Amino acid sequence: MPVDYKGGEHSKPVIRSFVTPRVRLLLFFTMIFYFSGTGNSAWVAQQLGEALHEAVHRITDKLPNQIYTLQPRERLGFVFPVYSWGPPSVVLEWLARLLCSETPSYLYFVCTCGDDAGKTALLFRKVAERRGWVCKAGFSVTMPNTYVCLPGFDVDSVEVEKQKICDARSRIVQVIEWVDRKVSRFDCHEGGAPYTKSYLLRPLFNRFFVSASRFHVMETCISCGKCEQACPMHNIQMKEGKPEWGSQCSMCLACYHHCPKHAVAYGNQTRKKGQYIFKSPKPV
Ligand SMILES: Cc1cc2nc3c(=O)[nH]c(=O)nc-3n(C[C@H](O)[C@H](O)[C@H](O)COP(=O)(O)O)c2cc1C
Ligand code: SF4
Ligand code: SF4
Repeated sequence: MPVDYKGGEHSKPVIRSFVTPRVRLLLFFTMIFYFSGTGNSAWVAQQLGEALHEAVHRITDKLPNQIYTLQPRERLGFVFPVYSWGPPSVVLEWLARLLCSETPSYLYFVCTCGDDAGKTALLFRKVAERRGWVCKAGFSVTMPNTYVCLPGFDVDSVEVEKQKICDARSRIVQVIEWVDRKVSRFDCHEGGAPYTKSYLLRPLFNRFFVSASRFHVMETCISCGKCEQACPMHNIQMKEGKPEWGSQCSMCLACYHHCPKHAVAYGNQTRKKGQYIFKSPKPV
């Protein structure tokens, strides 16, 4: 059965796919793949896609056996949140195994972060290099913070949230301009001690704090299923009206932030923490 994708999830179909029993060959001109838990990166990806007329795909909706056909001299972009001063593992895995007909001539990424990206650029570039690709550019966009699972971490105040989104709008315009011109540049806000954070703290975080095992549901749960629907990893199943977490957690916190009753808890760390979901800013 043909699959139409060109232009993104909501745009006009242009090109058909050719389906074999094992492999789907898809034709695109340019593409953006994104991952997002709470909507910040999805919004940035959507802005890029609209401005650059590129197809935008959520990587967790895609199949590993699709071959994406790139035109010579075309772009391939990744948009994702920074998790513990690096790209989420699911993004690096996707980058490592994405099947493309050609080596992308302009591979770039845009990461969103609450504060500091650390050595996100280096981590991304290394994975690209390992498969023979060169990442030409990478940019960070500061967005509202979503991490709440350790002491001292919480969502931003409403004022900070508004200011970050306001600043992000002009930042995205700048990033679009750079990507459109295929500028070779890395402009990420690394913050202090980036090597220590990305190469020492990050592996520890991934080892000990990326797991759904500490999630549990409070008695205020109304069985609405929004946590299950929000999980980009499809890692939650409703059983007898309550969410149950599986082992494929990316720690994106979509389940926590989307719960209308604040009934998703991470250990005892989140009881007094706030919630955040990206809401489209009003046009100026
Ligand atoms: C598990 C986790 C780890 C995070 N680590 C960082 C970090 O190291 N540096 C930072 O600035 N923001 C960090 N954040 C905040 C997110 O990068 C930021 O809020 C991002 O815009 C969320 O994007 P999303 O809404 O697309 O999921 C972290 C968030 C989560 C959930
Ligand atoms: S279980 Fe929650 S934190 Fe883990 S991937 Fe799903 S939504 Fe994200
Ligand atoms: S989103 Fe909250 S209230 Fe709804 S099912 Fe999940 S835990 Fe329960």
